Amino acid sequence: MMTAAAHTPVLLERTVALLAAAPPGLVVDATLGAGGHAQAILEARLARHGHAALLGLDRDPEALDLAGHRLATTAADPRVELTLVRARFDALPTVLAEHGHDRVSGVLLDLGISSMHVDRPERGFSYRAEGPLDMRMDPDLPTTAGDLVNTWPAE
Ligand SMILES: C[S@@+](CC[C@H](N)C(=O)[O-])C[C@H]1O[C@@H](n2cnc3c(N)ncnc32)[C@H](O)[C@@H]1O
Repeated sequence: MMTAAAHTPVLLERTVALLAAAPPGLVVDATLGAGGHAQAILEARLARHGHAALLGLDRDPEALDLAGHRLATTAADPRVELTLVRARFDALPTVLAEHGHDRVSGVLLDLGISSMHVDRPERGFSYRAEGPLDMRMDPDLPTTAGDLVNTWPAE
């Protein structure tokens, strides 16, 4: 079974130190993944500012699901404002406007794939186990990597 703890957040200590020190206000995690950074950032900002607001984005619904479960206990604290949105990070200005924010205190972009992607053969990101050549970050998109290499012209 896939768990959020399966993904180890990179540069966690440094990331949290920088974002905990950012002024009070909204912090954006634009690549939420399994929510490891988000959880640590929320806890650190809660300890430092007595309040923590985080907007988490991911284009992969599975990541949002994992992160949502991981962050549920932290988000139940009335001093925490947590909003999770399925979106690409290039839609951040629109998402911020839709949620009534005109400024942010910090933004984290942890670019790349998550352990979840390589650990699930059916997502097609890894040769470690048999699976389709898929590689879609957003599984609702119509074109897989297999479609692309097998049907698109070389140029
Ligand atoms: C390296 S992981 C993030 C891990 C996360 N920091 C954590 O602690 O678990 C990168 C995440 O970015 C997401 N992602 C990739 N491209 C994206 C895009 N264009 N917009 C939003 N999310 C994207 C992936 O689905 C993946 O969950």
